[in-house]
Amino acid sequence: MKRKLNCLFVINLLIFAQVFPKKAIDLPSPYCDLKEVLPFNGHGWYTNGVWIEKLMKQNKIYTVIEVGSWLGASTRHIASLLQANGKLYAVDTWEGSVEHYENQEWKKMLPTLYEQFLSNIVHAQLTDRIIPVKSTSINAALDLKNQINKVDLIFIDAGHDTESVLNDLVIYWPFVQNNEGVLCGDDWYWESVRKAVIIFAKNYKLTLYADDNFWFLKKEDDFNLKSFKTSSNDVWIFDRLQ
Ligand SMILES: C[S@@+](CC[C@H](N)C(=O)[O-])C[C@H]1O[C@@H](n2cnc3c(N)ncnc32)[C@H](O)[C@@H]1O
Repeated sequence: MKRKLNCLFVINLLIFAQVFPKKAIDLPSPYCDLKEVLPFNGHGWYTNGVWIEKLMKQNKIYTVIEVGSWLGASTRHIASLLQANGKLYAVDTWEGSVEHYENQEWKKMLPTLYEQFLSNIVHAQLTDRIIPVKSTSINAALDLKNQINKVDLIFIDAGHDTESVLNDLVIYWPFVQNNEGVLCGDDWYWESVRKAVIIFAKNYKLTLYADDNFWFLKKEDDFNLKSFKTSSNDVWIFDRLQ
């Protein structure tokens, strides 16, 4: 009799799993609001893994704000390197940037971008570390200012026009400026991004490091103009990371 009941329980469990195959029950908010966990989609533009890993191993990183997450390629990697009990606040409108509307493949992803991001984090089992902040970068900064008192690393990868990058640098720098945190980001190859980062570094007298497609700023020394030069094509060459 007991065996029969056990069998029935297992069969019911299997039926339940069939009817509700991928519900995000028992997950923290906002993951539990997902009507369905979508299949994993690893799309993204994250090529900075080596540098991020270096920075995160050299510095004890507990709290990160990422500005611009898309489907979470960078988010998942950075979150996986956090110290125990660390948290990553993923800031994004999940509405895409200008360039995403101009490409048919990316445009098609926009209607379910947020659900796909949440699903990817569920698949990666990082829902306890990654806190989605669905908002513009400016509004999110205003909210987070009242919630977090110490941030160790900011990763900027949202709007890529010079004005957007400069705005994000100005509003997110205060989160790390008093605690020797790192302000870094993607897309050094973009002229518009380079322009913003250089203007900001000069104005705030920060040391700027860049290599491949990655850049980061620290308060260590006065911004050293002698450590880089411009070529005739106005290509900036910086100290390389060691
Ligand atoms: C290049 S994608 C981020 C790529 C991602 N880091 C990766 O590893 O694949 C830029 C993201 O920034 C978001 N975004 C653009 N402008 C924004 C803004 N002003 N505030 C918040 N998010 C923004 C877009 O929705 C998009 O998801």
